[in-house]
Amino acid sequence: MSAGHPPPTVLIVDVHEKGEAMNPNKALWEKGDFTRIAESMRDSGETLVDRLGITSGLRMLDLGCGDGTTALPAARRGADVLGVDIASNLVAAGNQRAQAEGLANCTFREGDASDLNELADDSFDLVVSIFGAMFAPRPFDVAKEMVRVTRPGGRIVMGNWIPNDRTLVAQILKISAAYSPPPPEGFISPVTWGVEEHVLERFAGAGIPEERISWSRETYRFVYAASPTALLGAFRSYYGPTMNAFEAAEATGRAAELRDELEALFHRQNTSPDDNSTSIPATFLRVSVAV
Ligand SMILES: C[S@@+](CC[C@H](N)C(=O)[O-])C[C@H]1O[C@@H](n2cnc3c(N)ncnc32)[C@H](O)[C@@H]1O
Repeated sequence: MSAGHPPPTVLIVDVHEKGEAMNPNKALWEKGDFTRIAESMRDSGETLVDRLGITSGLRMLDLGCGDGTTALPAARRGADVLGVDIASNLVAAGNQRAQAEGLANCTFREGDASDLNELADDSFDLVVSIFGAMFAPRPFDVAKEMVRVTRPGGRIVMGNWIPNDRTLVAQILKISAAYSPPPPEGFISPVTWGVEEHVLERFAGAGIPEERISWSRETYRFVYAASPTALLGAFRSYYGPTMNAFEAAEATGRAAELRDELEALFHRQNTSPDDNSTSIPATFLRVSVAV
């Protein structure tokens, strides 16, 4: 397991009244309200979609779509978009946003990137997953499923946070991990999707040779019309992994220390000249796969 893993999802295993254990991956993302963070990511979502070469009628799957930061701009440019996400609250938020814009070519439904059994083989021209599928368990299954539902000649584009990178998200995950109990045996860190060797190995397992995979390091920007402290407050209240880290830190009496460390990070990384607004760049690995 590499450093910089987010707090283990096992912390939030929930038990329903009927006694069935809830899927911890689903519980993590339904715990908060990621829409509150996604609001700060819309500009970069638009920029990324601008470069996807969307054409009218292109069949696109947005996997781990959240509330549609990339799905909606793609639909506005004419793609037929299906957004799939494990969190029911985000699926509902995505459908609401699409309906509010009258985008009949954009629908969202619940599903797990590790097992897309409701989707037929070769269904999509383009599968996109921006900081989405990387959070699903069983990365080899994720790669297989993405390849399976992409038609031959189609493309997969992933955006993945990079372990130990010096920019915002990798640092949030790394700092949070230091305040959290060790993850359970066998846990595979999501940020391993930000390491080229792992990406090659996972897609090789899905039958994709190395020469069909390319990557670049790119930047997403978190833009927020309030201070970095306020943006950190949104992460603390609404972003599942940060919520878990604070819960773990509270249990050991270290919550103030965690807050101070994250607050210093957010302020240090803010490039906005104005203290009452936030603009923080974060580096990610963009992976392109020709299927
Ligand atoms: C950091 S958010 C990114 C959301 C969106 N792609 C965006 O750019 O705003 C991670 C998303 O992945 C989803 N996710 C996590 N595990 C998943 C899984 N196993 N299958 C599908 N979606 C998953 C979460 O519910 C969440 O919406």
